[in-house]
Amino acid sequence: QTDPAQYIRDTIRTVPDWPKPGVQFRDITPVLQDPRSFRVLIDLFVYRYMRQRLDLVAGIDARGFIVGSVLAYELNLGFVPVRKQGKLPFRTVAEEYALEYGNAAVEMHTDSVRPGQRVLLIDDLIATGGTMLAASRLLQRLGANVAEAAAIIDLPDLGGSKAVRDSGLPVYTVCEFE
Ligand code: PRP
Ligand code: HPA
Repeated sequence: QTDPAQYIRDTIRTVPDWPKPGVQFRDITPVLQDPRSFRVLIDLFVYRYMRQRLDLVAGIDARGFIVGSVLAYELNLGFVPVRKQGKLPFRTVAEEYALEYGNAAVEMHTDSVRPGQRVLLIDDLIATGGTMLAASRLLQRLGANVAEAAAIIDLPDLGGSKAVRDSGLPVYTVCEFE
């Protein structure tokens, strides 16, 4: 009878030297592949958010879609995608963030959130926090009230979750890796 968060942490696979030497990649695919760990994972989020007044779940491209859409469905909420630049067909707003080399941007449809809606932002992992912060800025520009930034994994040594909290947005993560 292990703690659910510990069970999820134990099920995440670490791939050494991917995508490049020195990086320990935390791979969530084993958690999704096994029906028990997938349910334990989603239920952790469901129990955290079922009593909160939320209007929408916003999931970040690409792995935030997997957990975000299932969570939205379970909470009886709508789901909106925060996509990498150039993927959304309608009118968009974009926010840039820094990569190791250069910049990237995330986009949302301008009509994906109505002003004042309470939105949960979710992704698989927070590293530097750049993606989560850009997504949060996008949502705020659309007038959303971002309730929390949620992720499966925090890499606290990279300072991202602290940066997101310092921006005034609460953060919830299931587990941490050094
Ligand atoms: C990864 C991860 C987060 C982001 C975290 O996605 O899924 O979205 O990086 O990093 P950060 O906190 O430093 O911004 P990635 O950009 O690799 O895109 P992918 O989902 O398309 O693989
Ligand atoms: N896993 C998944 N996504 C990531 C990681 C990782 O270890 N580091 C930065 N983005």
